[in-house]
Amino acid sequence: MDELRIAVIGIGNMGSAHASHIAQGAVAQARLTAVCDIREERRDWAARELGSGVKIYADYHQLLDEHAADAVVIAVPHPLHPVIGIEALSKGYHVLTEKPEGIDKASVLELNACAEKSGRTFAIMFNQRTNPLFQKMRELVKSGQLGRIRHFIWIVNNWYRTQAYYDSGSWRATWNGEGGGVLMNQCPHNLDIWQWILGVPDRIVAECGVSRYHHINVEDEATITGVYRNGATAVFVTSTGEQPGTNRMEISGSKGKAVIENGKLMFWENAADTDSVTYTADRSSPKADTTYREWVQEGREPAHIGILNNFTRAVLYGEPLLSPGVEGIHELEITNAAYLSSWTGKWVDLPLDETEYLARLREKQEEERKTGASRSVKAEEADGSYSERWMVRW
Ligand SMILES: NC(=O)c1ccc[n+]([C@@H]2O[C@H](COP(=O)([O-])OP(=O)(O)OC[C@H]3O[C@@H](n4cnc5c(N)ncnc54)[C@H](O)[C@@H]3O)[C@@H](O)[C@H]2O)c1
Repeated sequence: MDELRIAVIGIGNMGSAHASHIAQGAVAQARLTAVCDIREERRDWAARELGSGVKIYADYHQLLDEHAADAVVIAVPHPLHPVIGIEALSKGYHVLTEKPEGIDKASVLELNACAEKSGRTFAIMFNQRTNPLFQKMRELVKSGQLGRIRHFIWIVNNWYRTQAYYDSGSWRATWNGEGGGVLMNQCPHNLDIWQWILGVPDRIVAECGVSRYHHINVEDEATITGVYRNGATAVFVTSTGEQPGTNRMEISGSKGKAVIENGKLMFWENAADTDSVTYTADRSSPKADTTYREWVQEGREPAHIGILNNFTRAVLYGEPLLSPGVEGIHELEITNAAYLSSWTGKWVDLPLDETEYLARLREKQEEERKTGASRSVKAEEADGSYSERWMVRW
Protein backbone atom coordinates (compact mmCIF):
# COMPACT_ATOMS: atom_id res chain seq x y z
CA MET A 1 0.00 0.00 0.00
CA ASP A 2 1.56 3.37 -0.94
CA GLU A 3 -1.43 5.54 -0.08
CA LEU A 4 -3.75 5.55 2.92
CA ARG A 5 -7.46 6.14 2.28
CA ILE A 6 -8.84 8.02 5.28
CA ALA A 7 -12.44 8.69 6.37
CA VAL A 8 -13.33 11.30 8.99
CA ILE A 9 -16.30 10.50 11.23
CA GLY A 10 -17.74 13.67 12.75
CA ILE A 11 -17.06 16.84 10.73
CA GLY A 12 -17.88 19.51 13.29
CA ASN A 13 -15.25 21.99 14.47
CA MET A 14 -12.29 19.62 14.73
CA GLY A 15 -13.24 16.90 12.25
CA SER A 16 -13.82 19.37 9.43
CA ALA A 17 -10.34 20.82 10.03
CA HIS A 18 -8.86 17.29 9.83
CA ALA A 19 -10.88 16.55 6.67
CA SER A 20 -9.79 19.84 5.07
CA HIS A 21 -6.12 19.21 5.93
CA ILE A 22 -6.19 15.77 4.32
CA ALA A 23 -8.22 16.96 1.30
CA GLN A 24 -5.79 19.86 0.76
CA GLY A 25 -2.78 17.53 0.69
CA ALA A 26 -1.24 18.45 4.07
CA VAL A 27 -0.83 14.76 4.90
CA ALA A 28 1.62 13.07 2.56
CA GLN A 29 0.39 9.80 1.06
CA ALA A 30 -3.08 10.14 2.58
CA ARG A 31 -6.28 10.66 0.60
CA LEU A 32 -9.62 11.70 2.03
CA THR A 33 -12.16 9.25 0.62
CA ALA A 34 -15.16 9.62 2.94
CA VAL A 35 -16.71 11.70 5.71
CA CYS A 36 -19.70 11.16 7.94
CA ASP A 37 -21.89 13.39 10.08
CA ILE A 38 -25.41 13.05 11.42
CA ARG A 39 -26.03 16.77 10.71
CA GLU A 40 -27.25 17.65 7.25
CA GLU A 41 -25.67 21.09 7.43
CA ARG A 42 -22.20 19.53 7.88
CA ARG A 43 -22.80 17.08 5.03
CA ASP A 44 -23.77 20.04 2.82
CA TRP A 45 -20.53 21.75 3.84
CA ALA A 46 -18.58 18.60 2.88
CA ALA A 47 -20.32 18.44 -0.53
CA ARG A 48 -19.39 22.08 -1.19
CA GLU A 49 -15.83 22.08 0.19
CA LEU A 50 -14.20 18.67 -0.04
CA GLY A 51 -14.38 17.77 -3.72
CA SER A 52 -16.35 15.18 -5.64
CA GLY A 53 -14.08 12.23 -4.82
CA VAL A 54 -15.21 12.19 -1.19
CA LYS A 55 -18.18 9.98 -0.27
CA ILE A 56 -20.55 11.52 2.26
CA TYR A 57 -22.41 9.46 4.83
CA ALA A 58 -25.02 10.19 7.50
CA ASP A 59 -24.51 6.81 9.19
CA TYR A 60 -21.05 5.65 10.27
CA HIS A 61 -22.10 1.97 10.31
CA GLN A 62 -22.77 2.24 6.59
CA LEU A 63 -19.43 3.96 5.96
CA LEU A 64 -17.60 1.21 7.84
CA ASP A 65 -19.56 -1.58 6.10
CA GLU A 66 -18.87 -0.21 2.62
CA HIS A 67 -15.11 -0.03 3.26
CA ALA A 68 -14.83 3.41 1.72
CA ALA A 69 -11.45 3.84 3.51
CA ASP A 70 -8.59 1.93 5.18
CA ALA A 71 -8.44 4.17 8.25
CA VAL A 72 -10.83 6.38 10.19
CA VAL A 73 -10.31 9.56 12.16
CA ILE A 74 -12.95 9.82 14.91
CA ALA A 75 -13.96 13.39 15.82
CA VAL A 76 -17.39 13.03 17.42
CA PRO A 77 -18.35 13.83 21.07
CA HIS A 78 -16.09 11.87 23.44
CA PRO A 79 -18.49 9.20 24.81
CA LEU A 80 -18.70 7.85 21.24
CA HIS A 81 -14.94 7.44 20.79
CA PRO A 82 -14.79 3.93 22.32
CA VAL A 83 -18.07 2.87 20.65
CA ILE A 84 -17.00 3.84 17.13
CA GLY A 85 -13.36 2.89 17.78
CA ILE A 86 -14.29 -0.68 18.75
CA GLU A 87 -16.56 -1.11 15.74
CA ALA A 88 -13.98 0.31 13.32
CA LEU A 89 -11.07 -1.78 14.67
CA SER A 90 -13.24 -4.91 14.67
CA LYS A 91 -14.05 -4.27 11.02
CA GLY A 92 -10.37 -4.02 10.12
CA TYR A 93 -9.80 -0.24 10.11
CA HIS A 94 -6.79 1.60 11.44
CA VAL A 95 -8.03 4.22 13.90
CA LEU A 96 -6.94 7.69 14.96
CA THR A 97 -9.28 8.91 17.68
CA GLU A 98 -9.66 12.41 18.98
CA LYS A 99 -8.92 13.02 22.65
CA PRO A 100 -10.05 12.03 25.22
CA GLU A 101 -10.04 8.32 24.40
CA GLY A 102 -13.40 8.08 26.20
CA ILE A 103 -15.03 9.50 29.30
CA ASP A 104 -14.64 6.58 31.70
CA LYS A 105 -11.80 4.16 32.29
CA ALA A 106 -14.00 1.05 31.89
CA SER A 107 -14.95 1.78 28.26
CA VAL A 108 -11.39 2.76 27.41
CA LEU A 109 -10.07 -0.54 28.80
CA GLU A 110 -12.44 -2.27 26.35
CA LEU A 111 -11.23 -0.14 23.46
CA ASN A 112 -7.58 -0.82 24.32
CA ALA A 113 -8.19 -4.57 24.55
CA CYS A 114 -9.92 -4.49 21.17
CA ALA A 115 -7.07 -2.47 19.63
CA GLU A 116 -4.45 -4.89 20.91
CA LYS A 117 -6.38 -7.89 19.58
CA SER A 118 -7.00 -6.26 16.20
CA GLY A 119 -3.34 -5.74 15.29
CA ARG A 120 -4.35 -2.49 13.55
CA THR A 121 -2.67 0.87 14.06
CA PHE A 122 -4.40 2.78 16.84
CA ALA A 123 -3.42 6.36 17.66
CA ILE A 124 -4.84 9.29 19.61
CA MET A 125 -4.74 13.00 18.77
CA PHE A 126 -2.46 14.26 21.55
CA ASN A 127 -1.16 17.00 19.28
CA GLN A 128 0.72 18.76 22.12
CA ARG A 129 3.18 15.84 22.14
CA THR A 130 4.59 17.41 18.95
CA ASN A 131 5.67 20.51 20.89
CA PRO A 132 9.51 20.65 21.05
CA LEU A 133 9.58 22.23 24.54
CA PHE A 134 7.47 19.49 26.11
CA GLN A 135 9.64 16.92 24.30
CA LYS A 136 12.80 18.57 25.71
CA MET A 137 11.34 18.70 29.24
CA ARG A 138 10.52 15.01 28.99
CA GLU A 139 14.09 14.28 27.90
CA LEU A 140 15.50 16.24 30.88
CA VAL A 141 13.40 14.16 33.28
CA LYS A 142 13.76 10.74 31.60
CA SER A 143 17.53 11.09 31.09
CA GLY A 144 18.00 11.88 34.80
CA GLN A 145 19.45 15.35 34.07
CA LEU A 146 17.03 16.91 36.57
CA GLY A 147 17.94 14.28 39.14
CA ARG A 148 15.45 13.01 41.71
CA ILE A 149 12.18 14.84 41.04
CA ARG A 150 10.78 16.84 43.92
CA HIS A 151 8.00 19.02 42.52
CA PHE A 152 6.00 19.35 39.33
CA ILE A 153 3.78 22.44 39.16
CA TRP A 154 1.70 23.32 36.11
CA ILE A 155 -0.68 26.24 35.99
CA VAL A 156 -2.50 26.21 32.68
CA ASN A 157 -5.47 28.48 33.06
CA ASN A 158 -5.29 30.02 29.60
CA TRP A 159 -8.14 27.83 28.35
CA TYR A 160 -10.58 30.77 28.59
CA ARG A 161 -14.01 30.02 27.09
CA THR A 162 -17.19 32.11 26.93
CA GLN A 163 -20.77 31.06 27.53
CA ALA A 164 -21.24 31.26 23.73
CA TYR A 165 -18.66 28.48 23.38
CA TYR A 166 -20.52 26.26 25.85
CA ASP A 167 -23.84 27.08 24.17
CA SER A 168 -22.48 26.05 20.76
CA GLY A 169 -23.20 22.35 21.27
CA SER A 170 -25.86 20.50 23.26
CA TRP A 171 -23.32 17.85 24.33
CA ARG A 172 -20.84 20.35 25.75
CA ALA A 173 -20.23 20.72 29.48
CA THR A 174 -22.71 18.05 30.56
CA TRP A 175 -22.18 14.73 32.37
CA ASN A 176 -24.19 12.91 29.70
CA GLY A 177 -22.76 14.68 26.67
CA GLU A 178 -19.06 14.79 27.53
CA GLY A 179 -18.61 13.34 30.97
CA GLY A 180 -17.02 16.42 32.53
CA GLY A 181 -15.82 19.97 31.94
CA VAL A 182 -12.43 21.60 31.57
CA LEU A 183 -10.54 18.47 32.67
CA MET A 184 -12.39 16.28 30.16
CA ASN A 185 -12.48 18.67 27.23
CA GLN A 186 -9.52 21.07 27.26
CA CYS A 187 -7.06 19.38 29.63
CA PRO A 188 -6.61 15.89 28.18
CA HIS A 189 -3.63 17.42 26.36
CA ASN A 190 -2.05 18.80 29.54
CA LEU A 191 -2.82 15.78 31.71
CA ASP A 192 -1.30 13.60 29.01
CA ILE A 193 1.86 15.72 28.86
CA TRP A 194 2.08 15.59 32.68
CA GLN A 195 1.89 11.79 32.73
CA TRP A 196 4.11 11.52 29.61
CA ILE A 197 6.86 13.38 31.46
CA LEU A 198 6.41 12.09 35.02
CA GLY A 199 4.05 9.11 34.90
CA VAL A 200 0.65 8.77 36.57
CA PRO A 201 0.74 9.60 40.30
CA ASP A 202 0.00 6.94 42.91
CA ARG A 203 -2.57 9.06 44.80
CA ILE A 204 -4.70 12.02 43.85
CA VAL A 205 -6.81 14.59 45.63
CA ALA A 206 -8.73 17.28 43.76
CA GLU A 207 -11.10 20.19 44.06
CA CYS A 208 -13.24 20.73 40.95
CA GLY A 209 -15.26 23.94 40.92
CA VAL A 210 -18.58 23.31 39.18
CA SER A 211 -20.26 26.14 37.27
CA ARG A 212 -18.04 28.78 38.89
CA TYR A 213 -17.73 31.08 35.87
CA HIS A 214 -20.37 29.80 33.43
CA HIS A 215 -23.90 28.41 33.38
CA ILE A 216 -22.87 24.78 32.89
CA ASN A 217 -23.38 21.49 34.74
CA VAL A 218 -19.73 20.52 35.17
CA GLU A 219 -16.43 21.97 36.39
CA ASP A 220 -14.87 25.04 34.81
CA GLU A 221 -12.01 25.09 37.31
CA ALA A 222 -9.86 22.38 38.92
CA THR A 223 -6.87 21.96 41.20
CA ILE A 224 -5.30 18.51 41.40
CA THR A 225 -2.57 17.35 43.75
CA GLY A 226 -0.78 14.13 42.89
CA VAL A 227 1.66 12.18 45.03
CA TYR A 228 4.18 9.61 43.84
CA ARG A 229 5.50 6.70 45.87
CA ASN A 230 9.05 8.01 45.32
CA GLY A 231 8.14 11.20 47.19
CA ALA A 232 7.62 13.54 44.23
CA THR A 233 4.52 15.71 44.26
CA ALA A 234 2.57 17.36 41.46
CA VAL A 235 0.12 20.25 41.44
CA PHE A 236 -2.04 21.05 38.44
CA VAL A 237 -4.25 24.15 38.22
CA THR A 238 -6.63 24.97 35.39
CA SER A 239 -9.77 26.88 34.49
CA THR A 240 -11.79 28.26 31.57
CA GLY A 241 -12.81 31.35 33.50
CA GLU A 242 -9.66 33.46 33.82
CA GLN A 243 -8.22 36.17 31.58
CA PRO A 244 -5.37 36.68 30.87
CA GLY A 245 -4.34 33.13 31.62
CA THR A 246 -0.96 31.57 32.35
CA ASN A 247 0.74 28.49 30.93
CA ARG A 248 3.72 27.74 33.16
CA MET A 249 5.25 24.38 33.98
CA GLU A 250 8.00 24.06 36.58
CA ILE A 251 9.82 20.91 37.55
CA SER A 252 12.41 20.86 40.29
CA GLY A 253 14.77 17.98 40.89
CA SER A 254 17.88 17.32 42.91
CA LYS A 255 20.07 18.35 39.95
CA GLY A 256 18.27 21.54 38.97
CA LYS A 257 15.12 23.30 37.91
CA ALA A 258 13.37 23.58 34.54
CA VAL A 259 10.59 26.00 33.65
CA ILE A 260 8.54 26.32 30.48
CA GLU A 261 6.75 29.62 29.96
CA ASN A 262 6.20 32.08 27.10
CA GLY A 263 7.47 29.65 24.48
CA LYS A 264 10.81 29.12 26.25
CA LEU A 265 12.32 26.31 28.32
CA MET A 266 14.75 27.54 30.96
CA PHE A 267 17.05 25.06 32.68
CA TRP A 268 19.25 25.76 35.70
CA GLU A 269 21.54 22.79 36.15
CA ASN A 270 23.18 22.36 39.55
CA ALA A 271 26.92 21.75 39.72
CA ALA A 272 26.29 19.43 42.68
CA ASP A 273 23.29 17.25 43.45
CA THR A 274 21.21 18.86 46.23
CA ASP A 275 20.71 15.44 47.82
CA SER A 276 24.45 15.35 48.50
CA VAL A 277 24.98 19.08 49.26
CA THR A 278 22.33 18.94 52.00
CA TYR A 279 24.44 16.48 54.03
CA THR A 280 27.97 17.48 53.07
CA ALA A 281 27.96 21.32 53.10
CA ASP A 282 29.25 23.04 56.22
CA ARG A 283 27.25 26.26 55.62
CA SER A 284 23.54 26.51 56.40
CA SER A 285 22.20 27.81 53.10
CA PRO A 286 24.80 27.83 50.29
CA LYS A 287 23.71 29.40 47.00
CA ALA A 288 23.42 26.83 44.24
CA ASP A 289 26.18 26.90 41.64
CA THR A 290 24.21 26.52 38.39
CA THR A 291 24.69 26.54 34.63
CA TYR A 292 21.83 28.18 32.75
CA ARG A 293 20.58 27.03 29.35
CA GLU A 294 17.45 27.83 27.41
CA TRP A 295 15.55 26.56 24.41
CA VAL A 296 13.18 28.86 22.52
CA GLN A 297 10.38 27.48 20.41
CA GLU A 298 10.74 28.69 16.81
CA GLY A 299 7.39 28.85 15.02
CA ARG A 300 4.46 26.55 15.72
CA GLU A 301 4.65 22.84 16.51
CA PRO A 302 3.35 20.49 13.78
CA ALA A 303 0.33 19.79 16.02
CA HIS A 304 -2.66 18.03 14.39
CA ILE A 305 -1.05 17.78 10.96
CA GLY A 306 2.04 16.26 12.60
CA ILE A 307 -0.04 13.56 14.29
CA LEU A 308 -1.99 12.87 11.05
CA ASN A 309 1.30 12.44 9.15
CA ASN A 310 2.82 10.24 11.86
CA PHE A 311 -0.33 8.05 11.91
CA THR A 312 -0.24 7.69 8.11
CA ARG A 313 3.45 6.73 8.12
CA ALA A 314 2.84 4.32 10.99
CA VAL A 315 0.23 2.46 8.92
CA LEU A 316 2.19 2.56 5.66
CA TYR A 317 5.76 2.01 6.92
CA GLY A 318 5.53 1.02 10.57
CA GLU A 319 6.95 4.33 11.88
CA PRO A 320 6.61 4.39 15.70
CA LEU A 321 3.55 6.32 16.88
CA LEU A 322 4.25 9.53 18.76
CA SER A 323 0.90 9.15 20.43
CA PRO A 324 -0.29 5.53 20.65
CA GLY A 325 -4.05 5.20 21.24
CA VAL A 326 -3.66 2.83 24.17
CA GLU A 327 -1.84 5.58 26.09
CA GLY A 328 -5.05 7.62 26.19
CA ILE A 329 -6.03 5.76 29.35
CA HIS A 330 -3.34 7.44 31.48
CA GLU A 331 -4.64 11.00 31.40
CA LEU A 332 -8.19 9.67 31.77
CA GLU A 333 -7.13 7.83 34.90
CA ILE A 334 -6.12 11.22 36.36
CA THR A 335 -9.35 12.94 35.24
CA ASN A 336 -11.63 10.19 36.56
CA ALA A 337 -9.71 10.08 39.85
CA ALA A 338 -9.92 13.88 40.18
CA TYR A 339 -13.72 13.76 39.77
CA LEU A 340 -14.06 10.89 42.23
CA SER A 341 -11.93 12.73 44.77
CA SER A 342 -13.92 15.93 44.31
CA TRP A 343 -17.24 14.08 44.74
CA THR A 344 -16.13 12.16 47.82
CA GLY A 345 -13.78 14.71 49.39
CA LYS A 346 -11.17 11.96 49.75
CA TRP A 347 -7.79 10.92 48.36
CA VAL A 348 -8.05 8.36 45.55
CA ASP A 349 -5.46 5.59 45.19
CA LEU A 350 -4.45 4.65 41.65
CA PRO A 351 -4.96 2.53 39.62
CA LEU A 352 -8.56 3.70 39.85
CA ASP A 353 -11.37 1.23 40.44
CA GLU A 354 -13.13 1.67 37.08
CA THR A 355 -16.34 -0.04 38.26
CA GLU A 356 -16.78 2.31 41.19
CA TYR A 357 -16.07 5.31 38.97
CA LEU A 358 -18.58 4.21 36.33
CA ALA A 359 -21.30 3.68 38.97
CA ARG A 360 -20.73 7.21 40.33
CA LEU A 361 -20.68 8.73 36.85
CA ARG A 362 -23.98 7.01 36.03
CA GLU A 363 -25.47 8.61 39.17
CA LYS A 364 -24.32 12.05 38.00
CA GLN A 365 -25.76 11.43 34.56
CA GLU A 366 -29.07 10.23 36.00
CA GLU A 367 -29.29 13.28 38.28
CA GLU A 368 -28.62 15.52 35.26
CA ARG A 369 -31.32 13.80 33.20
CA LYS A 370 -33.83 14.36 36.02
CA THR A 371 -33.03 18.04 36.49
CA GLY A 372 -32.55 18.71 32.76
CA ALA A 373 -29.91 20.88 31.10
CA SER A 374 -30.22 24.40 32.41
CA ARG A 375 -29.01 26.33 29.35
CA SER A 376 -30.38 26.86 25.87
CA VAL A 377 -28.17 25.83 22.99
CA LYS A 378 -27.72 28.26 20.16
CA ALA A 379 -27.02 27.18 16.58
CA GLU A 380 -24.05 24.80 16.54
CA GLU A 381 -21.19 26.51 14.77
CA ALA A 382 -18.49 24.88 12.70
CA ASP A 383 -17.11 26.49 9.60
CA GLY A 384 -14.38 24.03 8.75
CA SER A 385 -11.55 26.39 9.61
CA TYR A 386 -8.55 25.56 11.78
CA SER A 387 -8.65 27.31 15.15
CA GLU A 388 -5.72 28.90 16.97
CA ARG A 389 -7.30 27.84 20.25
CA TRP A 390 -6.32 24.20 19.62
CA MET A 391 -2.58 24.93 19.55
CA VAL A 392 -0.24 25.21 22.54
CA ARG A 393 -0.69 28.81 23.72
CA TRP A 394 1.66 30.73 25.97
N1 LIG B 1 -7.18 17.72 19.47
C1 LIG B 1 -7.72 18.90 19.63
O1 LIG B 1 -7.02 19.90 19.71
C2 LIG B 1 -9.21 19.03 19.67
C3 LIG B 1 -9.81 20.29 19.49
C4 LIG B 1 -11.22 20.38 19.47
C5 LIG B 1 -11.98 19.23 19.65
N2 LIG B 1 -11.36 18.02 19.85
C6 LIG B 1 -12.15 16.81 20.07
O2 LIG B 1 -12.89 16.51 18.91
C7 LIG B 1 -14.15 15.95 19.27
C8 LIG B 1 -15.25 16.76 18.60
O3 LIG B 1 -15.19 18.10 19.09
P1 LIG B 1 -15.75 19.32 18.22
O4 LIG B 1 -15.35 20.55 18.91
O5 LIG B 1 -15.37 19.13 16.79
O6 LIG B 1 -17.32 19.08 18.39
P2 LIG B 1 -18.48 19.46 17.37
O7 LIG B 1 -19.75 19.34 18.12
O8 LIG B 1 -18.16 20.73 16.66
O9 LIG B 1 -18.38 18.28 16.28
C9 LIG B 1 -18.80 16.96 16.54
C10 LIG B 1 -19.50 16.47 15.27
O10 LIG B 1 -19.82 15.09 15.44
C11 LIG B 1 -21.08 14.87 14.82
N3 LIG B 1 -21.66 13.62 15.34
C12 LIG B 1 -22.22 13.41 16.55
N4 LIG B 1 -22.61 12.14 16.66
C13 LIG B 1 -22.30 11.53 15.48
C14 LIG B 1 -22.46 10.21 14.98
N5 LIG B 1 -23.06 9.25 15.68
N6 LIG B 1 -22.04 9.94 13.72
C15 LIG B 1 -21.45 10.91 12.96
N7 LIG B 1 -21.28 12.18 13.39
C16 LIG B 1 -21.69 12.49 14.63
C17 LIG B 1 -21.87 16.12 15.19
O11 LIG B 1 -23.00 16.30 14.35
C18 LIG B 1 -20.81 17.21 15.03
O12 LIG B 1 -20.83 17.77 13.72
C19 LIG B 1 -14.22 15.99 20.80
O13 LIG B 1 -13.95 14.71 21.31
C20 LIG B 1 -13.15 16.97 21.18
O14 LIG B 1 -12.56 16.69 22.43
C21 LIG B 1 -10.01 17.93 19.84
